[in-house]
Amino acid sequence: MDADLDLLRRYNRSLPRYTSYPTAPHFGDDVGREAFQQTVQRSNAVAPEAPLSLYLHLPFCRQLCYYCGCHMKVTHDPARIEKYLRYLKREIDLLAPRLSSRRPVTQIHWGGGTPTLLTPTQIRALGAFLRDRFEVAPDVEMSIEADPRGLTEKHIAAARAAGCTRLSLGVQTFDAQVQEAIHRVQPERLTRTAVRWARAHGFDGINIDLVYGLPHQTPETFADTLAGVLDLAPDRIALYSYAHVPSVLEHQRLIPEDALPAPAERLRLFGHALETLTGRGGYRFIGLDHFAKPDDELALAQQRGTLRRNFQGYSTRAGADVYAFGISGIHQLSGLYAQNAKALRAYYDAINRSELTVYRGYRLTKEDRLRRHVIMELMCNMTLQKEAVEDRFGVDFDAHFGAALDRLRPLEADGLVALRSDEIEVRPPGRLLVRNIASAFDAYLHEAAPHEQPAYSESV
Ligand SMILES: C[S@@+](CC[C@H](N)C(=O)[O-])C[C@H]1O[C@@H](n2cnc3c(N)ncnc32)[C@H](O)[C@@H]1O
Ligand code: SF4
Repeated sequence: MDADLDLLRRYNRSLPRYTSYPTAPHFGDDVGREAFQQTVQRSNAVAPEAPLSLYLHLPFCRQLCYYCGCHMKVTHDPARIEKYLRYLKREIDLLAPRLSSRRPVTQIHWGGGTPTLLTPTQIRALGAFLRDRFEVAPDVEMSIEADPRGLTEKHIAAARAAGCTRLSLGVQTFDAQVQEAIHRVQPERLTRTAVRWARAHGFDGINIDLVYGLPHQTPETFADTLAGVLDLAPDRIALYSYAHVPSVLEHQRLIPEDALPAPAERLRLFGHALETLTGRGGYRFIGLDHFAKPDDELALAQQRGTLRRNFQGYSTRAGADVYAFGISGIHQLSGLYAQNAKALRAYYDAINRSELTVYRGYRLTKEDRLRRHVIMELMCNMTLQKEAVEDRFGVDFDAHFGAALDRLRPLEADGLVALRSDEIEVRPPGRLLVRNIASAFDAYLHEAAPHEQPAYSESV
C-alpha cells in the first residue's frame, strides 16, 4: 500500500472526471436551442426506434450542506416546488412531441437537489405524467436520489408506484463531528430505516453515497462509517472524493478548512476505504468511484466490457441518448451536448415563451467522438482493443495517437498501464489514477496553457 500511496501522491493533480468529453467547461453559446432542435429532429428521423434515457433535475433541498457541489436551491415554500413541477411538465410537453413515439424509454433518473423533497402525491403524479408522455419500457431502470432526512415510508411507496426500482441514499458520513462541520446532521438510524423501507417496498437496487476528504475525517472514524454501511449491505456504494472549490462555490467557505484532511491523509482515507470495501465488504471496485456487489449489473458490465459513463455516473445503459428536464440538466445526444438554463428565472421565462431552455452546448467533431470513445473505454472498462477502435473510426491507432502514447510511457514505467501492440490495459495500481491515463487522450487538456485550464478537482 505504501508504494501505491507514493504513486498516488506523485500523480495526484487536478483533472476532469470525464462524465463527458469534451468536458462541460468547453460548452459554448454557439450551440444553443436552434442547434439542439435540429439535432433532435435529425436523430429522431435517423433512429426512430433507438432507446431513450431521461434525466429529471429536482433542485430543491430543505437546507444547505456546506460541502455541496450540486445545482440546488434551499426552499421551505411548497408553492415554489409546485410551480417548478408545473414548468417541468410544460418543458416535457415542449420536447416530447419532437421525439419519435416509437422510442422506448429504458432509463429514467430523478436527480437533484433532493427529489424526495417532493410530496408523495407529487412523486406519483410525476411518474404517471412520464408514462403518459413517453413509451416507458416495461423493464425500465428508474432510479431516484433520496435524502434520509425528511424521508417517510409514504415517499418510498410513492417512488415505487411511480416506477422507481433503484434508490440512492445520501449519507456521506455517520460521524457526528463531521456531520456538524458539514451542516448535515443525519442520525444513522434514519438511513437504516430508509434502507428497511426500500427493501420492504421491493426496491431491487440500493445505493449509498459516501464522501471522503471531509473536515475532521480520519481513517479511524471513517472506518466506523464504512462498518455501518457494510452492515446495511447496499448493492452499490458511491465513494466520492470531496471536491472543495470555494473560489467557485462560495458556501464551501463555511467548511472549516483547517479541519480538512491533508492530501496524504486523504489518500489514506481512500486507501482504507478501498481495502475495506473490496476486502471484508466483498464489493468490486467499478471505474473511478463506485463499488458494487459482484452480482450487480455494474460489476457484470465492467467484466463484460460494456460499462458506460455519462453525467449520471456509471451505467449499463448509457448508450442511449439522454434528454434532460429541469434547470441545469444536460442533454447527451450522440453528436451533441446541450445544457438547460441554470437560473430559475431564465428557465421559467423561456418556457413562458414556449421555448426550450437550452442556452449552451457542444457539437462533437469526428475527432471528438473518437477521443470520447477511447477515454470512456478506459474510464469504464479499464482496457481498450486498438483494432476495435480502428474498425469503428477508420484510423491507424498508433499513428493517430502517437503523442498520447508518448505521454503514457512514464505511466507505463511506473506500472500504471500496459501499452501492448494490440491493446491498452489499465494495471491494478493504475485503477485509482485512471483519470491520469484517460487524460493522455484529451486533446483540449494538452492544447490549453495551464493557466487557461478550468478548475477540476484532484485525482484522488
Ligand atoms: C444530489 S446529492 C444526493 C441526494 C440528496 N440531495 C442528498 O444529499 O442526500 C448527490 C451526491 O453528490 C455528492 N456530493 C455533493 N457535493 C459534493 C462535493 N462537493 N464533492 C464530492 N461529492 C459531493 C454527495 O455524495 C451527494 O450525496
Ligand atoms: S448534498 Fe444533497 S441535500 Fe445536501 S445540499 Fe447538496 S443536494 Fe441538497
